[in-house]
Amino acid sequence: MHRSDPNDVPLMTVHALKKHFPVGRQLFSKEPKAWLRAVDGVDLQIHRGRTLGLVGESGCGKSTLGRLLIRLLEPTSGAIKLDGEEISNVSARKLMGLRKRFQMVFQDPMGSLDPRMKIGESVAEPMYLNGIGNRREKVAEMLEAVSLSPEIANRFPHEFSGGQRQRICIARALTLEPDLIVADEPVAALDVSVQAQIVNLFQDIQQKMGLGYVFISHDLGVVRHIADDVAVMYLGKIVEQGSVKEVLDAPAHPYTRALVSAILPPRPTGVRFRPPVSGDLPSPINIPKGCRFASRCPMAKDLCREEEPVLRRVANGQHAACHFT
Ligand SMILES: Nc1ncnc2c1ncn2[C@@H]1O[C@H](COP(=O)(O)OP(=O)(O)OP(=O)(O)O)[C@@H](O)[C@H]1O
Ligand code: SF4
Ligand SMILES: [Mg+2]
Repeated sequence: MHRSDPNDVPLMTVHALKKHFPVGRQLFSKEPKAWLRAVDGVDLQIHRGRTLGLVGESGCGKSTLGRLLIRLLEPTSGAIKLDGEEISNVSARKLMGLRKRFQMVFQDPMGSLDPRMKIGESVAEPMYLNGIGNRREKVAEMLEAVSLSPEIANRFPHEFSGGQRQRICIARALTLEPDLIVADEPVAALDVSVQAQIVNLFQDIQQKMGLGYVFISHDLGVVRHIADDVAVMYLGKIVEQGSVKEVLDAPAHPYTRALVSAILPPRPTGVRFRPPVSGDLPSPINIPKGCRFASRCPMAKDLCREEEPVLRRVANGQHAACHFT
């Protein structure tokens, strides 16, 4: 299957998506003390056969967004459309059916596999939970798809390396032939030498099966390799998005510029150095007025502290939320 055109009808469209968590309870009140705005108004599109890289520093809301997309979390508000059909408020019954179309792959393959279950049982678990038969054959097929021998089905997770265990998790995620996989830092815990193999495996599978990926990663090098499109998240919002080439080669938002500059090799003298961001991410319980990045932005002006910038087009498919780009 070939990569889809970004202009095709998207697999998933997300609009104004929010997840606010209650924090602290007040005595004699049902209302919480405060709300933590983990995801605070996100618009996205995910396409079949394409990978969206989701980047941003720790605590900016990437995992929460990933879980919202595949309905592991209930959104506070906003719209999620799958093939044009609204799924943000479907019944529990319908949600059960939808879940087959989504899978998640996590950072820690050991934590994702039950150490007491044989590999074959783990890989077959999604089929078992969904009452699907012919499991033995499908397990063998999926293990082969991730370049493992079907004979390992009778063995246990501790007998395998981190990379092999992540292959097993990927095999399990594929058994129900999902349309979308959210991979949350899937190679971060692996040796560098193994990371490339797993990234290539993700790509091979996508080419064969045409599924859409959301690939969450701190590592812009990995994102550059695997993703077609990138969304840069800061304090619950997307501050820049576009194709990998547009965003990573010509970042428009000061935050993206800082992230990108941090991975570039040292520049020759005379070339302007863009410092990585200083200071801490503000608390998502107390989001500052105006631009969320203003407290750390070297370009901040008075306007930035008053008015929140919205995502606007800066190049072909590239959008950034900054008053001054
Ligand atoms: N269930 C929850 N209840 C309350 N707050 C939560 C919950 N889950 C996440 N948060 C908070 O939401 C914010 C975003 O968390 P999230 O895990 O989505 O960030 P992240 O970008 O994935 O970070 P990391 O890169 O460290 O994985 C954080 O402040 C986190 O503490
Ligand atoms: S709007 Fe202002 S504070 Fe925000 S990123 Fe742009 S220049 Fe920096
Ligand atoms: Mg996370």
